[in-house]
Amino acid sequence: MSSTIAFIIIGVSVLFILGIKFLSSPKTARIGNLVAAAGMIIALCVLLKTDGTSVWSHGWNFNYTLIVIGTIIGLIIGAIGAYSVKMTSMPQMVALFNGLGGGAAALVASLEFIKGAHPQELAGIDLPVVHQSTAFIAGSMLFATLIGSLSFSGSIIAYLKLEGKFEKPHTFPGQNILNGLILLVILGLCGLLTFNATNGNATMAFIVMFVLALFFGVAMVLPIGGADMPVVISLLNSFTGLAVAADGFAINNLAMVVAGTLVGSSGTLLTLLMCKAMNRPVSNVLFGAFGSSGSAAAAAGGPAGTVKPIQADEVAMLLAYAQRVVVVPGYGMAVAQAQHSVRELTEELGKRGVEVQFAIHPVAGRMPGHMNVLLAEANVPYDQLIEMEQINPSMDRVDVCLVIGANDVVNPAAREDKSSPIYGMPIIDADHCKTCIVMKRSMAAGFAGIENHLFYKDNTRMLFGDAKASLNALVAAVKAS
Ligand code: TAP
Repeated sequence: MSSTIAFIIIGVSVLFILGIKFLSSPKTARIGNLVAAAGMIIALCVLLKTDGTSVWSHGWNFNYTLIVIGTIIGLIIGAIGAYSVKMTSMPQMVALFNGLGGGAAALVASLEFIKGAHPQELAGIDLPVVHQSTAFIAGSMLFATLIGSLSFSGSIIAYLKLEGKFEKPHTFPGQNILNGLILLVILGLCGLLTFNATNGNATMAFIVMFVLALFFGVAMVLPIGGADMPVVISLLNSFTGLAVAADGFAINNLAMVVAGTLVGSSGTLLTLLMCKAMNRPVSNVLFGAFGSSGSAAAAAGGPAGTVKPIQADEVAMLLAYAQRVVVVPGYGMAVAQAQHSVRELTEELGKRGVEVQFAIHPVAGRMPGHMNVLLAEANVPYDQLIEMEQINPSMDRVDVCLVIGANDVVNPAAREDKSSPIYGMPIIDADHCKTCIVMKRSMAAGFAGIENHLFYKDNTRMLFGDAKASLNALVAAVKAS
């Protein structure tokens, strides 16, 4: 039996890895989700055990009833949430779900720790033994409790910030030092508890550690700017994964070790990729209070040149003579829900023999893959989506570049202005094309809070208005031309 389970877990691990692999492309992302979900269902069915007996060999009991009720409630809440959430609110939903995952991991570890029982007796499962010493098990439980609870409270704060409840970073002098001290106390308590897990006072010290960890999650996220939340959520997501993996060690569940490690490592990689795409170290995201007055906005320089507005019918004329058009979508396209109108416009241009491509910046929008998801939803063919590094070398051969609700990701200050807070961030070279049309409602800044030099360039025209309304007007004008 044990080798059968071990083989199934290896199979489940392969499904998880394939799921992540498929998720890396919009073409295969749906199947990736299904493959990983199938792996999780198999893992649950195989590993469901209580008191050392399996449902298959000893029949149904009350614990299984509870598990089924919990699963049904979770399924209903998850399905309603997933169907009703707006695309622009996805980061909030991810934050909430991630927080709940972290909280669950912390509770599992806490209960095991407080019970003080030997996990191998509890699990009673015939798996290869992954832990050897009591200190190691206690350490795993404490790690899962610490990381899971701070991930829970931090994710709730991230959710509230994304909901706009208190977007601005909350900072005060000496905050990082205070947070560092709290962390030291938590680590000290963890160290003490690891080697005194069975001591009579352990439970009280454990509860203090738990509460401090919850508080630390709040204190860690409060000073971070609202718009940095997607990076923070990705980091907290990796924490939840690590907490689940530690739970796996504590209760001798290999599937949890594998799934948690995969979530932890992929979350860490995603965090690093996002920071690289913004040219900011993780430390700057965590401690830089980006978005507070005096950071980004103060560094804004006055770009040279004048702003030249344009009307939709004039843009349609330009498009009529274009051979190659590149669309640069950004956060404003998501806000305006303009993806279907963009597809309609590009289809219309395609019918007229114009070559159309989409230039995708890795951090356009507010979450990883934001633009890919929106454009996939609108049925834009995947082969039209070109990544920044691939499209930039040929931007000088583009007749018309349509920048739709994008701002920071096309700001040439990132290349030209060493004093700019986004200096060094890779951008899409929209300014290199022959004519650049920027669609947005006003001259307002984007996420970084700085002036965009592109808007003042000689070859740039501003089509002011809501992106969807402008695109609809453009579609009508192109059809009429
Ligand atoms: P932003 O620089 O944030 O600019 C978006 C622009 O959209 C705004 O300037 C706004 O101008 C315009 N807009 C808003 N609503 C609109 C509407 N209804 N119609 C037309 N335009 C509208 O967006 P971006 O270029 O996509 O850059 C993303 C930024 O987010 C980057 O700075 C990036 O570092 C940051 N960020 C991204 C991520 C991820 S993972 N994607 C994570 C953290 C941070 P108006 O108000 O004038 O219309």
